[in-house]
Amino acid sequence: MTIASAPGKIILFGEHAVVYGRPAIAVPVREVIATAEVTDIIQAAQGEIHIEAPDIKLDSWLHELSADHPLSRIINLTLDEIDPGTFPPLRLHITSTIPISSGLGSGTAVSIAVVRALSTHLDQPLPLQRQSALAFEVEKIHHGTPSGIDNTVVTYDRPIYFVQGEEPEILQSETPFTLVIGDTGQTSPTAVAVSQVRVAWQEDTSKYETAFEAIGQIASQARECIMQGRAKELGPLMNQNQALLEDIGVSSPELRVLIDAARASGASGAKLSGAGLGGNMIAMVDPDDADRVMIAMREAGAVRTLRTEVST
Ligand code: PMV
Repeated sequence: MTIASAPGKIILFGEHAVVYGRPAIAVPVREVIATAEVTDIIQAAQGEIHIEAPDIKLDSWLHELSADHPLSRIINLTLDEIDPGTFPPLRLHITSTIPISSGLGSGTAVSIAVVRALSTHLDQPLPLQRQSALAFEVEKIHHGTPSGIDNTVVTYDRPIYFVQGEEPEILQSETPFTLVIGDTGQTSPTAVAVSQVRVAWQEDTSKYETAFEAIGQIASQARECIMQGRAKELGPLMNQNQALLEDIGVSSPELRVLIDAARASGASGAKLSGAGLGGNMIAMVDPDDADRVMIAMREAGAVRTLRTEVST
């Protein structure tokens, strides 16, 4: 039996602008994970794979899934990549504690956990860069035009500074810092928000390019702050980033209520994280204030709160 896992993630700065070539920062969230377990079975033909994913009520043979199902896609991509020849029938059991469609990277983490478990079980573990590249292919089903930041941060499991098409920079943080995450409970498919921004960008390119440029500059400043141990300055930068995300139309009243509650209860800054229009928000807190801020966020309607420490 082979077990592998991959973490959730949040985008700290730069979502949406990253799709248009600007830098962004993402960090892993190890408090939530996707896990894949591969076991040899006997009651099937060579090369058959039985998939069990109870979280999405899936219990099926690989050949029964359509070719564009995210799970059949990542399994077939992995098999094509490692070209294992004949192999015994397998059972693939997938579980995840990462909320679905809420900006925490659940689909990506499942893809990476499957690539790791399957390739390792078949004695051909893949390097990180290849794992990330395979998950990126599946992101295209979820996202349409993904930047690649999600598959990169989940694969590397480290804070990253990311520019589309360039090698990710692993951020060495001088001082760890604490974030709290609040879930609006509204699922929000990334593809919807990304295509809404695309349409608006086509209609008013100069407004959107100006906003993306400003967001990219915030991400660059945040990179300096993290590397130089000036984490206290990240809160105000988050507030600036949130104002720009509101300008480009991807916030929502529910996100705004949680963001306001976090700020009013002591967070030094807060913003939505991921595609927006629902999903999760994040807030920068002093570790001693984390519980108070999470309680305020729950009282304001968060269906789930989570605390994560960011370090390298
Ligand atoms: O998958 P999400 O909801 O974390 O969104 C990813 C961030 C976007 O910038 C909105 C899209 C992308 O591909 O970078």
